[in-house]
Amino acid sequence: MKLSVIGCGYLGAVHAAAMASLGHEVVGIDVDEAKIAKLAAGETPFFEPGLGEILTQGLESGRLSFTTDMSAAAGAQVHFIAVGTPQRHDGTGADMTYVNASVESLLPHLRPGDLVAGKSTVPVGTANRLAELIAPTGAHLAWNPEFLREGFAVKDTIEPDRLVYGVSDTTGTDDTATLDAVYHTAIAAGTPRLVTGYATAELVKVAANSFLATKISFINAMAEIAETVGADVTQLADAIGHDNRIGRRFLNAGVGFGGGCLPKDIRAFTARAEELGKGESVAFLKHVDEINLRRRQRVVDLAVDSFPDHINGHRVAVLGLAFKPDSDDTRDSPALDVAVRLKGLGADVIAYHTEAIPNARRAHPQLAYADTLDDALTGAETVVIATEWKAFRDLDPHTTRDKVARPVVIDGRNILTPTTWRDAGWTYHGMGR
Ligand code: UDX
Repeated sequence: MKLSVIGCGYLGAVHAAAMASLGHEVVGIDVDEAKIAKLAAGETPFFEPGLGEILTQGLESGRLSFTTDMSAAAGAQVHFIAVGTPQRHDGTGADMTYVNASVESLLPHLRPGDLVAGKSTVPVGTANRLAELIAPTGAHLAWNPEFLREGFAVKDTIEPDRLVYGVSDTTGTDDTATLDAVYHTAIAAGTPRLVTGYATAELVKVAANSFLATKISFINAMAEIAETVGADVTQLADAIGHDNRIGRRFLNAGVGFGGGCLPKDIRAFTARAEELGKGESVAFLKHVDEINLRRRQRVVDLAVDSFPDHINGHRVAVLGLAFKPDSDDTRDSPALDVAVRLKGLGADVIAYHTEAIPNARRAHPQLAYADTLDDALTGAETVVIATEWKAFRDLDPHTTRDKVARPVVIDGRNILTPTTWRDAGWTYHGMGR
């Protein structure tokens, strides 16, 4: 099939390359000339395992191309809208500028029978509005939310755990059949596919992210209690996680969630619910956000308290800058936030996280960045672990101790074994344990 993908960020670039890998002829379109030049040259504009390979294969096969020219969308059967919906600068709602602009500029190139498939995370009600805008062209609209996780984006796109099609008429089959043809491999593999109305499909995405955020903040709230009474939240999570109704995943207490999705999605959902007069229904999401932000301060407080005098001038190594491992994404990253707050308190912060340093440096040139993990550790008086990266999980307490000036570790992700580190002479502080 001929497909266009409008917006070539984390979502769109992966979607375009993944669709080409399924055999479709795909054009990726974005207004950012630098990004398009990179993608067209086979370079990934961000770190995502496996993306480089399918990008190169797609370009070499001739089935995948990138352009800034929207007219290249003409002739595609399906046009995916994959632009960002960041948090508004003047509030907590979603900034719809890019969705609106991309649909406006696509309109002249639509033909009767084309399908516009929205993938961006949008406030409920958006699809109805866009469907009216598109209707005069004879094209249709479907809402087809994406659930990919960074670090697993290629796999999540090619082998999703479910497909959701929000269509205008849930009894009609044309748009459903078109999307089935796009996702033919997933359909053939028996992937659950739910056909819903627009509003349900829009809500599925924000509901899923709200639930995940709530799960993390729930366990972080338990960590706050555990800290007060001397309990271990990790054991607590293991114990409640054995109950299949609860499940152990997303119950890792730590410095909290970040990234380009969970934080802004719960805020945008709250803002939208308030607009709809239903703010009360999701008022708990404000607490979810607050609990999450308090955990960053907890790590900062532990670092400050690790010095008998003021933290000013003391060397603190912050290991991790991205919001999660296997990512260079520093958007709303708890790790970067902790580093910046410690620097603001006068600490001599040295930060490390290979992939994420360029993004972190752009936003915070005032921080010092280490080229290697060894450089970060050497001479550190307190070590803060801020992402659950394997390289940090695998640190050896004995050899690491030889590098630092003072063996104090704040395990902001609970990835170390406290007894092993304490036995090796470290002062160990975890989160809620
Ligand atoms: C998320 C959703 O998982 C995905 O389905 C959606 O499409 C986009 O948003 P992503 O932003 O890639 O994906 O990150 P995710 O893996 O969900 O992690 C989010 C954050 O929560 C990370 O900062 C992670 O470190 C943190 N986290 C996760 C915890 O603090 N504890 C956990 O137990 C799990």
